[in-house]
Amino acid sequence: MIIAIDGPAASGKGTLARLLAEHYGLRHLDTGVIYRAVAKAVLDAGLDLTDEAAAVQAARGLDPATFGDVALKSQAMGSAASVVSAIPSVRRALVEFQRQFAAAPPGAVLDGRDIGTVICPDAEVKIFVVADPVVRARRRTLEARSRGEAADEAVILADILARDARDQSRTVAPLKPADDAHLLDNSQLDIEGGVRAAIAIVEAVRAGRSRS
Ligand code: DC
Repeated sequence: MIIAIDGPAASGKGTLARLLAEHYGLRHLDTGVIYRAVAKAVLDAGLDLTDEAAAVQAARGLDPATFGDVALKSQAMGSAASVVSAIPSVRRALVEFQRQFAAAPPGAVLDGRDIGTVICPDAEVKIFVVADPVVRARRRTLEARSRGEAADEAVILADILARDARDQSRTVAPLKPADDAHLLDNSQLDIEGGVRAAIAIVEAVRAGRSRS
């Protein structure tokens, strides 16, 4: 089974994806980490995030062993990732890696922005997670502070809104729900409630399939 989870920054989709994968015994890929790793490689080389050749080279040379690097988690790296991810040739260079990950048995949960629309359009279940931007900013602020980063909630909210606008308006693979995605509003749910709601969606889709 392949489950696609898309949604805006800090909507809680990553945590949901990880816990859903555990629940169903599937592998999990946080695809945001891929774009963050590309952005970090470009910045580490002292180059500009809009340098297409450098970003494509970083995408082609991607090393999954670096995905656990804590430097990838920062708010600044998320914004940098949003810039490199708008370059069409960078996205093209990363499609195959993601599809191969999804296709390997026993299946996977992938979370990102374009999983249900571009990477895995045939995923059995597609969930689009939404949450109030103010709630998202609050969660991101607490997360950043728990890592020991100084975090100003108003700055994070502005960053989230700018990122939403960039991710939604880019010409290639913009952030949007697939036509057959199920919306999950995570604004008022705690982690357990979110996972319960996601499992309910997966089970409803499976039950519908087995009836048809
Ligand atoms: O999910 P995240 O915050 O780690 O993602 C960081 C940025 O990477 C996000 O603002 C846009 C980009 N991204 C993307 O374009 N496509 C994906 N599938 C995942 C992330």
